[in-house]
Amino acid sequence: TMFRMRPPVDAGQKHFGATMCKSCGMIYTASNPEDELQHVQHHHRFLEGIKYTGWKRERVVAEFWDGKIVLVLPHDPSYAIKKAEEVQELVDNELGFQQVVPRCPNKTKTFLFISDEKKVVGCLIAEPIQQAFRVLSEPTSPESPSSKECHRAWRCSNVPVPAVCGISRIWVFRFKRRKRIARRLVDTLRNRFMFGCFLSTNEIAFSDPTPDGKLFAAKYCNT
Ligand code: ACO
Ligand code: ZN
Repeated sequence: TMFRMRPPVDAGQKHFGATMCKSCGMIYTASNPEDELQHVQHHHRFLEGIKYTGWKRERVVAEFWDGKIVLVLPHDPSYAIKKAEEVQELVDNELGFQQVVPRCPNKTKTFLFISDEKKVVGCLIAEPIQQAFRVLSEPTSPESPSSKECHRAWRCSNVPVPAVCGISRIWVFRFKRRKRIARRLVDTLRNRFMFGCFLSTNEIAFSDPTPDGKLFAAKYCNT
């Protein structure tokens, strides 16, 4: 299932006097020092990735030949929470999300895929939900003027279907895509979200998917 959890992002939104960085894609106002600082930070993380040096008490929930998955929970020590927030900031900037406050912050689970080079190369943020609204196929009129800008504004059904787990974000570092990192994150989530059971693909829902997210989710749920 793909569902909506937040209002559509206005992708066509133009900030007055703003520029878009050609390397990292961030839209910012160069004349605004705060904006500029945010850009410099995002730019670096976007290209270099986020380092992960390891914690004494880390919760490793899966291990692979090319890395491992660490789970961060809401009441973890602040160094773990800070790392999860840093990753979420990068992901949100990349996806163009405004800061979204989770509905049950004390129930959010963050899965980080750590590469052998000690970098965070994947992230999945999940939270419990009760219901989801199926995303309908895209409107058929092929050349609606704003179809490109509204590529995220999927229409969705107003009939709720039961669901258990909502994936609010899934992201893989640009240079590590198509190596099944997202797949392994979702597999691990299904195994770990509720104690003692493996969630079926019907019980998980992808929130407000991007085109990449939609392709991945469609493929994942069919296999
Ligand atoms: N185009 C077509 N098919 C795809 C794509 C794509 N961009 N991405 C994944 N798939 C399909 C493929 O069939 C793939 O298998 P294959 O490589 O053997 O053909 C299968 O899904 C599994 O893909 P993974 O390798 O596990 O996916 P990946 O690790 O590359 O991560 C992701 C996919 C997370 C969507 C990544 O492209 C990404 O981070 N994109 C930018 C951020 C984004 O848009 N995230 C989704 C937001 S929606 C949300 O958060 C709920
Ligand atoms: Zn940049």
